[in-house]
Amino acid sequence: MTCADGKNCDEPIKRRRALAMFGLMVGVFAMLSGFSFLVDRGQVTPDQVHFGRYQATAGKRVFQAYNCMDCHTIVGNGAYLAPDLTEEYKQVGPAWLAAFLPSAGGWPTEGALRAQLLDKTIATDAGVDTLAAYYEKFPGAKNRVERRGGGTSFMPNLPFHADEVGELIAYLKYTSEMNTEGWPPKVETGDLQHRLALLHGTKVASTAPVAAPAPAASASAATPDPIAHGEALAKDNGCTACHAIDGPHLVGPDWGGLYGAKVKLTDGSTVTADDAYLIESIVKPNAKIVAGFTPDVMPQQYGQMLKDDDVKDIVAYIHSLEKR
Ligand code: HEC
Ligand code: HEC
Repeated sequence: MTCADGKNCDEPIKRRRALAMFGLMVGVFAMLSGFSFLVDRGQVTPDQVHFGRYQATAGKRVFQAYNCMDCHTIVGNGAYLAPDLTEEYKQVGPAWLAAFLPSAGGWPTEGALRAQLLDKTIATDAGVDTLAAYYEKFPGAKNRVERRGGGTSFMPNLPFHADEVGELIAYLKYTSEMNTEGWPPKVETGDLQHRLALLHGTKVASTAPVAAPAPAASASAATPDPIAHGEALAKDNGCTACHAIDGPHLVGPDWGGLYGAKVKLTDGSTVTADDAYLIESIVKPNAKIVAGFTPDVMPQQYGQMLKDDDVKDIVAYIHSLEKR
């Protein structure tokens, strides 16, 4: 011991203090590590979150399988090519997501949202069943429909099965419920005027949206031409987000040249695309499934939503595409 010669006598005390401090830190570390594994710390976990019969744990696997993180971020992790999705569910709700995800190459219209709200699982999950109440609860959906509804989006169409869409909604519901303690910081959206006003600290003159696109009502105005009326209905109800008229192939079968053609079905049979078949395809999409496609991707609720005459006009429009 160095203390024997009368010098450096307090060194062992310093050493003991250092060792005690080290021991304390090891203890704190072990405690915090244990704490972080505690399940009931108030933090939500994926197995606790459901959307109808779909589980967030399954949605997490779908999210990974499609590499959504190659373009998107969740709590700031991932790629910065596309918007952060952490709070997406909280902003837009289940109906908007159900309308957007299967045909992500196009932005949902109000009609597409209305069709989704007729779905029981969705209305129950949203806790509202009218569009007005939905917009109030999920203002992000209203904002997106008004700003971009019916337009093309920069996200590619991904070949989802119906169950995968439900599972993804459950997963995004989970990420919305996570307590991220304010991370990632919110991006201030809104129109240019609104952002400029924020920048200069002035009040925004009017909160009314700038010239919202013509509402669905314009389609049901007294138009004598059934083809034009059918075309407007197909746009307003979001059909053209899935069915291509003459452009590149989308999510569902193309409509160009469909009328009168022979359609192969998944059960191996063939039908002629006449009025009766087309009407049935619109009001009961799962009655016959076109070969190469999967059931439940097309919304099932149009039959409840569209009047018989509206369906006939859409068929007249599809018919006109054959003659063009
Ligand atoms: C190749 C890149 C890419 C991949 C992969 C991708 N996305 Fe996207 N996504 C985008 C882009 C780009 C946008 C923004 C589109 C726009 O603004 O027009 C977007 C938008 C979205 C939106 C709407 C965001 C908003 O502003 O409301 C959701 C929801 C979404 N994606 C979900 C997903 C999910 C879930 C997956 C995986 C299953 C996925 N995306 C995979 C590129 C991608
Ligand atoms: C989310 C995508 C999606 C939307 C939105 C959608 N469809 Fe479909 N549609 C499909 C898919 C996928 C099929 C093929 C599977 C099947 O036969 O049900 C299909 C099949 C059809 C068929 C049969 C086509 C054929 O080649 O035999 C018709 C007709 C049709 N849809 C009309 C409509 C109308 C009208 C609307 C809007 C009121 C609409 N669809 C909205 C995805 C969609």
